Order: sequence, then structure tokens, then C-alpha cells
Amino acid sequence: MTKKFKALESVKTDQGNQLSIIERSIDDLPEGELLIKVHYSSLNYKDALSASGAPGVTRNYPHTPGIDAAGTIEESSNQNFKEGDSVIVTGYDLGMNTSGGFGEYIRVPSSWAVNLPSGLSEKDSMSLGTAGLTAGLSIKALDDHNSMRGFESSASIVTGSTGGVGSIAVMLLSKLGSTVTAVTGKDSQNDLLKGLGASEIISREQLSEVSRTPIGKTIWDFGVDVVSGNILTLLLASLKPGGAVACSGLVGGPSFESSIFPFILRGNALLGVDSVEISIEKKLEVWENFATDWKLDLSSLVKEVKLEELEDEISTILAGGQIGRVVVNLN
Ligand SMILES: NC(=O)c1ccc[n+]([C@@H]2O[C@H](COP(=O)([O-])OP(=O)(O)OC[C@H]3O[C@@H](n4cnc5c(N)ncnc54)[C@H](OP(=O)(O)O)[C@@H]3O)[C@@H](O)[C@H]2O)c1
Repeated sequence: MTKKFKALESVKTDQGNQLSIIERSIDDLPEGELLIKVHYSSLNYKDALSASGAPGVTRNYPHTPGIDAAGTIEESSNQNFKEGDSVIVTGYDLGMNTSGGFGEYIRVPSSWAVNLPSGLSEKDSMSLGTAGLTAGLSIKALDDHNSMRGFESSASIVTGSTGGVGSIAVMLLSKLGSTVTAVTGKDSQNDLLKGLGASEIISREQLSEVSRTPIGKTIWDFGVDVVSGNILTLLLASLKPGGAVACSGLVGGPSFESSIFPFILRGNALLGVDSVEISIEKKLEVWENFATDWKLDLSSLVKEVKLEELEDEISTILAGGQIGRVVVNLN
């Protein structure tokens, strides 16, 4: 008899996308070398876009979102992975047009999976999830760009700082010795941000007072930006000579303006970060960093929910209200 499993399903209707928890059949999963029993997933902004039917994210509905999954292999036709191995799958097409981690089972190509590094639990990996991976890749991009400078004694700025990518970027930069300014729209979260390691917390409005366009005071060595729009314009205008911003998100809009001055007068750089389609080796490198030198205590950041509780969390993240990380427990 075909094995059944529980999953969140998003269905397109005339009133917009509707979410429900349904029973699905393993036979309906796509082809792939690895059948994985998902133990944990996590909620990212992109999942909320997929779940709500935002254009340009998921093509076909009904659909089970979830771009992140950690669990154990139940069936493998690839000799590098065996039954019982714990693995992490993030990005590529998972949760986009391939049934995702908001279901108890996924079936994926083996090239999408990494073995869980020792030093990280499945829950740790999903506490980080794509948001953590992206924060890690942002910090790697800044380091690779300017390794002579180092993070020790540097000044950095993180936008969207109470959200998934932002909160982990604040923690990581602070751990690496940078003095971190956190930009937030939530004045109620100062204690949380201080606890993560932020030295200074400013509102989005305050940022436009300290930074002037087209080019202003030199304040920061490094920036991690998930907002884009005017916020990214202001970051670029206030970098120190040789400084750089790693950008990965667009919660503030898909485009931004900048003069050429930061680039030609201060040698500044804007570094794009993709966590989805990069090589699996690059993903593994970041997971291994998080299992060792970059080990973070994420307990104050993580809210654990069941599949049935995800709908409310999806509404919150879409409204810009996300604080820290939401881990989905499918055990
Ligand atoms: N390139 C990649 O591979 C990649 C990977 C992961 C995520 N992303 C993108 O990065 C962005 C953040 O993802 P996430 O998972 O961290 O999302 P998130 O958890 O929702 O965090 C975003 C944060 O940005 C701030 N924010 C929300 N709306 C805003 C607005 N209109 N203007 C200014 N700030 C706003 C809020 O923080 P405050 O209230 O503290 O300001 C919010 O908590 C998304 O655009 C996502 O698609 C890209």
C-alpha cells in the first residue's frame, strides 16, 4: 500500500491562495535519488511568497512549499548517501516547483543534499536554514573581497536586523569581532538585538539622518543588506574607503539608486549573494563553518512550530513582522 504523509498545501482560488494540511501519497512526489523523511524545516520569506501565490515564485498549484529540510534518508540510489544518513537540503528547486520541506517527505536529486556536519543537529541546521546560509555567504563574500581588512575592530551595519538573515548576520559579525550597527523597523526589539551582539541600534529613519546621498561621512567597513531600495542607497553612500556591502534581499523593493561616487571615489563594492543555485560544495563549506568556528547559540532567536501553526507565521513574515527564525518540527 502506498505510504501517506502529512503536508501543508497551497491551492490557488479566486479569493487568493488557501492553505490547508492534507494527506499526500509518496507516489506523488517527483522522481529523485533520495527519499528523505523530513524532521525539521524552517520558514523563510520566499516560502511565504510561494505559499501565498506571489507571482514569479511557484508556477503550479496545488503545491507544498518549504525551501529548507533536514531529515534522514529512507531510500537512496546514490552510493554516496545511505539509508539513515542525516542530510540537509536547501534551495535549488526545493519548495519552488518541487514539493518542499513543509511535508513529512521530500524526494530530491542527490546533488541537492549535504551530509549533516558533526557538531550540528538537524534542528540546529534548520534554526539557521536558508536565512543562516545566506548570512554566512554574505560574511564570506565580504571576507573574500577584503580579507586584508578582517572583521576584528571593523564597523559593520546590518539591515532587516530582526529578520532571519539579518539576525544571524548580526550574531556572526559580532562573534567575528566587528562592532555592529543594527537597522530595524521594530523599536520594541532593542533588547533582543543587544543580546545578539549589536552595539548600536538605529531606526530606518535614523539611518537617513546619519547617511547622506550621493556620498556622505565614512562610517562602515562592511554592510549586510536584505532590504534594497533607499536603505541600500544610504549604506553605499556611507562606506569607508575599500568597504563593501553584501546584498541578498529585496523586502524594501526590487530596485535602488546610487551615484557612481562610492565606487570611483572610495573603491567601494556591492557584492551580490545567492544561496539557491550555488554549488553544493560552497553550501557545505558554510554549514561546516557553522558547525565549528561560527557556532552560534540561536536559542533566543528560534520559535518552534508544528505544520498546523505555520499559516499564522506566514502572514507575519509577509507583513514584515518576522523576529528571528521559525523552525518547523515535523517529528
Ligand atoms: N539571495 C538569496 O539567496 C536569499 C536568501 C535568503 C533570503 N533572501 C531574501 O532576503 C530578504 C530577507 O529574507 P529573510 O528570510 O531574512 O526575511 P525576514 O525574516 O522576513 O526578515 C526581513 C526583515 O526585513 C525588515 N523589513 C521588512 N519589511 C521591510 C521594509 N518594507 N523596509 C525595510 N525593512 C523591512 C524587517 O526587519 P526589521 O523590522 O528589523 O527592519 C524584517 O524582519 C528577502 O527579500 C528574501 O527573499 C535572499
